[in-house]
Amino acid sequence: MDIRTVGIVGAGQMGNGIAHVFALAGFEVLLNDITQDALDKAVALIDRNLERQASRGKITEEDRKAALARIGTTLKLADLGKTDLIIEAATERETVKQAIFEDLLPHLKPTTILTSNTSSISITRLASRTDRPEKFMGFHFMNPVPVMQLVELIRGIATDEPTYRTLLAVVEKLGKTAASAEDFPAFIVNRILMPMINEAVYTLYEGVGSVKSIDESLKLGANHPMGPLELADFIGLDTCLAIMNVLHDGLADTKYRPCPLLTKYVEAGWLGRKTSRGFYDYRGEVPVPTR
Ligand SMILES: NC(=O)c1ccc[n+]([C@@H]2O[C@H](COP(=O)([O-])OP(=O)(O)OC[C@H]3O[C@@H](n4cnc5c(N)ncnc54)[C@H](O)[C@@H]3O)[C@@H](O)[C@H]2O)c1
Repeated sequence: MDIRTVGIVGAGQMGNGIAHVFALAGFEVLLNDITQDALDKAVALIDRNLERQASRGKITEEDRKAALARIGTTLKLADLGKTDLIIEAATERETVKQAIFEDLLPHLKPTTILTSNTSSISITRLASRTDRPEKFMGFHFMNPVPVMQLVELIRGIATDEPTYRTLLAVVEKLGKTAASAEDFPAFIVNRILMPMINEAVYTLYEGVGSVKSIDESLKLGANHPMGPLELADFIGLDTCLAIMNVLHDGLADTKYRPCPLLTKYVEAGWLGRKTSRGFYDYRGEVPVPTR
């Protein structure tokens, strides 16, 4: 199937990045969120990010203008029904995602492909609640979307070959690289990445190291470009906790037990960069460790 129009649900860090790369690759994009403020902020951020790419010579001024013109916004989820491909990128909570798909179903064209950018929730289970499990897939972009090369493609148990092939062609058109993963909790990237981040929080919790020494150790001792706590703040601590809970519940193994200190930060509303405080405090000139 030829995909020309894309509906994106959720205009947060991932939704706005996904809108950015699709618009730049020539797709018509319709972005939805629950508040006008979220939509306005997303478009302003896309504008700034496109401008940065243009100023660095990565895209032309015409590309920038054309991409921005291809992005529309709406508060009405039903408006997305006319698009060829839906990418759900709302908050990492299964009830939220299920409600979105249920509300969308009556408005969809029969051919529309449904996808979720979930980091960890079962694609098979999300798909089973829709009228088209064979046209449903996990479409997992990495953060920040305009920079990261990989897209994980996750087939649910019922996903058919034409749907998989269509998404593979879309990834190619975006200039990115697809990796196929089976539908088990957290797929490939987060199955490996999140237990490492969770272990870094345990290392902090047990007093083995400070925020600074843990991050420096992994950067200088394992050649990681970011420390694990810095990365957790970048991803969002609520998202990290949600993924650990999915691993813990889905695989029923205590090795995935979320660290109580991670839970405490989330309960405090210290969710990382997006709330200006997490393992680091971002409110000043330079990030300051909070422990
Ligand atoms: N943050 C990451 O590094 C990362 C990476 C890959 C995938 N993901 C996944 O992407 C998804 C979004 O994560 P994020 O980091 O962008 O979160 P975020 O908190 O930045 O954004 C979520 C957005 O969804 C909106 N939203 C909530 N309920 C909605 C609804 N019913 N209808 C429309 N919009 C709604 C919120 O208002 C918010 O703007 C999650 O499933 C997450 O697991 C995140």
